[in-house]
Amino acid sequence: MFESKSGIMFVAGLAFFAFAFLSNAVVPMLMYQNLPEKTAEQLVNGNLRYQFEDLQRRYPESFTKAYGVPPTDPEESEAWYNQKVADSLRVGRKIYVGEGCWHCHSQFVRPVSNEEERFGAVSRSWEYQNELQRPVMFGTRRVGPDLSREGGRRSNDWHAVHFFQPKTLSEGSPMPSYPWFFEGSPDKPTARGLALITYIQWLGSWRLEYPEYEQYEASPLPKKEIAEKAN
Ligand code: HEC
Repeated sequence: MFESKSGIMFVAGLAFFAFAFLSNAVVPMLMYQNLPEKTAEQLVNGNLRYQFEDLQRRYPESFTKAYGVPPTDPEESEAWYNQKVADSLRVGRKIYVGEGCWHCHSQFVRPVSNEEERFGAVSRSWEYQNELQRPVMFGTRRVGPDLSREGGRRSNDWHAVHFFQPKTLSEGSPMPSYPWFFEGSPDKPTARGLALITYIQWLGSWRLEYPEYEQYEASPLPKKEIAEKAN
């Protein structure tokens, strides 16, 4: 085998493959195997709670139908909201997978081609260390934009109208419409529609601030303060 050039190349090729597997798969697996993976409950953050409560204000009927009524006791209500958000994240992600959104959208901002100028901060490995990234939705190609930093970029009602009929907001969009997330019109999202919007608003919400999107209101005020502000 070692008499010919091609024999040596063949053995070297196998050796390099084995080395790459060791350094890129086995070593990271051993390094990170004890790192705890965050659960959906631990992923609920202020930005996301703000968006979730915004869904309740915009679509009170649909919201109540999907989630019921929050308890009046402040502590119980806090736990109630957090649990509903976590449940919605799990459901929303399943819908994202099931509807094949990942065929057209990536969730990984690469450190090349100035991608951060278009999509926002480059993705970091810790952002994938949680339940909702199993398996990761890196995507296969980009017919549409990367969604890693989508949370907070658009309002909930923008998403609702966009899912109902993308062409009304983006002329000539090849994105399919998803009328089955609504009971008739875009202002009546179903439980699945609400869950998908929650999931989309989660993407990138774990970043503390949104320097890219200046208008975004990052920290949610307690409901009482919002009501006082409005008066
Ligand atoms: C056939 C490819 C395709 C599929 C499938 C698809 N999209 Fe899109 N999507 C696009 C394209 C292209 C755009 C950009 C034009 C537009 O805004 O409609 C887009 C835009 C978006 C945007 C707005 C991004 C922004 O801020 O401008 C969101 C959010 C989104 N898609 C989510 C989804 C979700 C969730 C699904 C699955 C339910 C999905 N897409 C399925 C192609 C697709």
